[in-house]
Amino acid sequence: MRLGVNIDHIATLREARAINDPNPLEAVFTAKNAGAHQITIHLREDRRHIHDADVRSIITQSPLPVNVECALDEGITEFLCAIKPHRITLVPEKRQEITTEGGLDLNTHSDTIAKTLARYTKHDIDTALFIDPHIDNIALAKDLGAHCIELHTGKYANLHLMQTTNLPKTHHSLQEFALPTKELQSLLDSELSLLATSAKYARDIGLECFAGHGLNYHNLAPIIAIKDISELNIGHSIIARAVFVGLERAISDMLKLCTSP
Ligand code: PXP
Repeated sequence: MRLGVNIDHIATLREARAINDPNPLEAVFTAKNAGAHQITIHLREDRRHIHDADVRSIITQSPLPVNVECALDEGITEFLCAIKPHRITLVPEKRQEITTEGGLDLNTHSDTIAKTLARYTKHDIDTALFIDPHIDNIALAKDLGAHCIELHTGKYANLHLMQTTNLPKTHHSLQEFALPTKELQSLLDSELSLLATSAKYARDIGLECFAGHGLNYHNLAPIIAIKDISELNIGHSIIARAVFVGLERAISDMLKLCTSP
């Protein structure tokens, strides 16, 4: 299983002081030393963490392939077509959200998505769509011209947190999943099975299948067991652990989990 390290939150920390410290570009070399397979960055419309200059410097200097997550935005498409990351992953974006909530709505935006994917493909850039795990979404992703899909694991991660940690007793409790243990377990099992079926279907119809969002050192094992998923993109939990053990160790610990049989 390949690991893409999402380094957005190095830039989030930098923005707290608005001087170039810590520099996200430095994290690219640390990730390479730790054995990561890919760098992932999200160029948000509000530029709340990663900026255009980061994208430019990371793409031109990274020894690892760079996957840029971005929304359907004309300015961003033009910018990325010119500097050619290894891959773009189209994600939905809402200004007020803390992080990417849910996958792309492929039905509502089908024309724009197909045209945008075709533009990236014309510029020799690999494409992925970040979608919720449903067979219909995957079939449509293929029809729209995506090369790969990334399954949104946020619901799985939230259910896992509510089931296995003290989150329900804190003020971060997720009301949507404030349910009895048995009910939570059944939802967790269905979500995992949906992820597995979706990944298999994607592979069967010739799409590479990745996954990400909310994955951490504690909830990874059942996702690793889904052999049709070939890559994970993980950010928050790695950067959070790096605060205590350093970035290189946080990445290599995650890699050990990703590559364990
Ligand atoms: N994959 C995609 C498409 C994302 O949008 C994000 C969040 O930016 C991630 C993976 C990483 O999520 P997390 O930071 O929760 O590990």
